[in-house]
Amino acid sequence: MSYLPLYINTTGKKCLIIGGGKVASRKLIPILKSKMHVTMVSPEIHEDIIEFVKDKKNFDYQKKVFTINDIKDQFLIVAATNNKEVNALIAKIAKNKNILVNMAENSNSGNTLIPSVVDRDPIKIAISSGAASPILTRLVKTKLESVIPYSFSKLALIMMEYRSKVKETFSKIVERRNFWEAFLDGPISEMVLSGHVDKARNALDESLKDKKVPNQIGEVYLVGAGPGDPELLSFKALRLMQKADVVIYDRLVSEPIMNLIRQDAEKIYVGKQRADHAMPQENINQLLARIALEGKKVLRLKGGDPFIFGRGGEEIESLINDDIPFQIVPGITAASGCASYAGIPLTHRDHSQACIFVTGHLKDGTVNLNWEMLAHEKQTLVFYMGMHGSKIICEELIKHGLKNTTPVALIVKGTTIDQEVIIGNLQNMPKIIEENKIIPPTLLIIGDVVKLHNKLKWFDPFSSLNKNNIQL
Ligand SMILES: C[S@@+](CC[C@H](N)C(=O)[O-])C[C@H]1O[C@@H](n2cnc3c(N)ncnc32)[C@H](O)[C@@H]1O
Repeated sequence: MSYLPLYINTTGKKCLIIGGGKVASRKLIPILKSKMHVTMVSPEIHEDIIEFVKDKKNFDYQKKVFTINDIKDQFLIVAATNNKEVNALIAKIAKNKNILVNMAENSNSGNTLIPSVVDRDPIKIAISSGAASPILTRLVKTKLESVIPYSFSKLALIMMEYRSKVKETFSKIVERRNFWEAFLDGPISEMVLSGHVDKARNALDESLKDKKVPNQIGEVYLVGAGPGDPELLSFKALRLMQKADVVIYDRLVSEPIMNLIRQDAEKIYVGKQRADHAMPQENINQLLARIALEGKKVLRLKGGDPFIFGRGGEEIESLINDDIPFQIVPGITAASGCASYAGIPLTHRDHSQACIFVTGHLKDGTVNLNWEMLAHEKQTLVFYMGMHGSKIICEELIKHGLKNTTPVALIVKGTTIDQEVIIGNLQNMPKIIEENKIIPPTLLIIGDVVKLHNKLKWFDPFSSLNKNNIQL
C-alpha cells in the first residue's frame, strides 16, 4: 500500500471511534489534539478514557454496542473493537461512504495511518513506518526529539508573526530568503530560543525599519562541557557547539567532546593547567569580547559547570561591559559526574545530610578554609583541585574533629574511560597520593558516603582491563 503524508485541517471535523479499549485510548489523544469532535461508541471504556468523558471537551461517549447506523457523515472513523471481523466490516462500510478509516490492528482494511509526531507546534514532524515496525518509528521519533529544541515552536511562531511584514518590506523572494537566513543564523533567533522574545521583536522591527537583513552582531555562549563523558552534554550545549564560529577551550574539555564541535570552527586553546596558564584570565576575557565584536559566534567551552570553580562569572561580567549578547549553559559539575560514576551518592539519609563543594587550591602553600565548619560528621565534602593540598586538608580535618578513619575517595579522570577510584581514609590518603603517580584531574570525596562505593560501583571503563590499576 502507498501513503501520501498529507497535513489536513481537521478543526471541528467529526471523528467516530468504535471501541473503548487501550488501543482506542491511544488513538484518542492525537485525534483530540487535532481539534476534531470525537464520538466514542463502546459498551465499556478503558480507565485512561474516563478523564476525557468527564472533561467533555470535544468528546461524547455513547455507552452502547456499535450498530451500522452509527456510521453517518464522519470525516474519520477509527475501527478499534476487539474483534477483527467487526473492524473489517466497519472499514468496508466507511470506505463505501468515502469516509477515511483507520484500523486498530495492523491490517490492510483501512486507508489511513495515524503517525507518531514530533510536536513543536506549529512545526509537526510526522513519522510512520507504513505499519512495518512501531519500534522503529519510536526510535526515529526519539532521535528527532533529541535534536530539535522545544523552543523551535517559539521560533516558528515569531516567523509566522513577521511573515507578512517581511513580505511588505522586501518585494523580491531572494531578499526575503536572505533576511530569514540571517535571522536564523544570527543572534535574533538565539534571543527567541533563549526566551527573550520581546528583545527579538525589537531587533526585527529595527531591521525592517532600516530595510536591511538583521545585523550579524557577535555573541558568546558560555557552555559547560561536563566532566568528560560526551554523553553527559546537554542538548543545548551540543546545539551551540555546532553553531559557533570560534571555540575557546581549556584543558579540562575532553577530546571526544572537542570532536563534536563544528568541523570548520576555529579552535583556540587557553590552557588553565596548574602552573600552566596558557593565557591569563584577563586576556581570555578580552579575547572573548574582541572576537564577538568582530560579529562572530564564540563558544567558551569549559569543563564541568562554568559557574562552579570555573570563573564563568568573571568572563560574563566583562561581556556585559561591552554590551555583547551571551547565553550560559550549565554543565554537569565534576562532583556530580564523578560521584555518580564512582557509585558514591553525595547525600544519603543514613550517612550524610549535606554536601559542600570546596576548592583545595593552594595559595602560598596553604589551604585557607573554615575548618570548624567543614569538620562535621554526617556531611560530605568534595574537594576540587585538592590533590596537591591533600596532606594539609586531611591533617586539618583530623585536627578539627573528624576521625582519622573517615573514608576518602580520590577519583581520577572521572566519567572518562581512564577513570580510577582510589579508596582510603584521612590518615592514609596523603601517603597513597605521594606514593603513586596520579595524573589529574582528580577529585576528593570525604565522608561516610564513600563506604557505599563498594556496593554501588557500576562504571567499569574498558581501558581499566588493560591498565595497571591501583588496587587497595
Ligand atoms: C578549575 S576546576 C573546574 C571545575 C569545573 N568547572 C566543574 O564544574 O567541574 C578544575 C577541577 O575540577 C575537578 N575535575 C574536573 N573534571 C574532573 C574529572 N573528570 N575528574 C576528576 N576531577 C575533575 C578537578 O579537581 C580539577 O582540578
